Amino acid sequence: MGDRILAIETSCDETAAAVVERATHVRSSVVASQIDRHARYGGVVPEIASRAHVEMLVPVVAEALVEAGVADDEIDAVAATVGPGLVGSLLVGVSAAKALALVWDVPFVAVNHLEGHLYAAFLEEPDLELPVVVLLVSGGHTLLVHMEDHGRYRLLGSTIDDAAGEAFDKVARFLGLGYPGGPVIDRLAAEGDPTAIAFPRGMLDRTGEDRYAFSFSGLKTAVVNHVRRHPDVSTADVAASFQDAVVDVLVTKARRAAREVGAKGLVLGGGVAANSALRSRWVEACEEDGIRPFVPSRAMCTDNAAMIAAAAWWRLRSDGPSPLDTGATPNLRLPLAG
Ligand code: KG4
Ligand code: ZN
Repeated sequence: MGDRILAIETSCDETAAAVVERATHVRSSVVASQIDRHARYGGVVPEIASRAHVEMLVPVVAEALVEAGVADDEIDAVAATVGPGLVGSLLVGVSAAKALALVWDVPFVAVNHLEGHLYAAFLEEPDLELPVVVLLVSGGHTLLVHMEDHGRYRLLGSTIDDAAGEAFDKVARFLGLGYPGGPVIDRLAAEGDPTAIAFPRGMLDRTGEDRYAFSFSGLKTAVVNHVRRHPDVSTADVAASFQDAVVDVLVTKARRAAREVGAKGLVLGGGVAANSALRSRWVEACEEDGIRPFVPSRAMCTDNAAMIAAAAWWRLRSDGPSPLDTGATPNLRLPLAG
């Protein structure tokens, strides 16, 4: 009962739908990106995003069902991201999911987008053992989370200013590399020297209450100042050195946290987890520390609906169906234990 879930994700600029069984078996995962429509504005334009979701949602859901090879009456529950995200975008997915749940007479499951990112790793690692420490790094969030059990999270730290992905996007914009910045910097950094410029490692040496807090705005300013002072600097070296500073802080804090809480594994999630340097440093750090690295495939790191279906499966088991009057909550937070 409730094993085959159709999930819809429309929190930002991807229209996505997926059919997943028992939180681990991905029957289909369709993502229609709107990047082309927003690129010329240098960021996501909310009004354009919600209109594009309205256009794309029905074909994307239809494609997810066809690809999965399941008929409407073989879906056991319909899930949607209810927040955090852009309200106009969220409402498109939430309304559609509720309508389908009503028509098909199956449970509706409201999913927190951040919880979806946390569950992306479970899609590909069904034997993932808890407790783990999860680093969730996306365009809007940088969270270090102690996941004690399913649905039981403790927040160890978060960013006090920019999110890690936001730092990638802002630095890329400043360097004239376009939007979104993460993938471009990732590619360019491969041609540069990560030790060329010693950029600051924000809050790396903190030992008190804020030891797991992050800060990236000083790093962004340091990049701007360096390039203004050295106009002939190699952009690839700037990209590589900037990326090295971000990755260094993320990996160092995550492994300290894993040691402190006795985690069995270190899980990566969120769009920035698609970063090549972060992925390889993550695995190396875990090998050195004798714990398991869980690094979802790139497609599962960036926004998709399969991770929403995985989180929905666990939520349905713990909380049951969500009421059909559940609305969209743009600033929804991760539900924390204790
Ligand atoms: O999780 P996501 O797809 O959307 C949000 O929920 O924010 O994350 C998007 C963020 C953007 O800031 C993008 O620049 C960043 O993830 N990103 C990357 C890479 N691919 C995407 N950052 C660094 N390296 C990448 N390869
Ligand atoms: Zn996301």
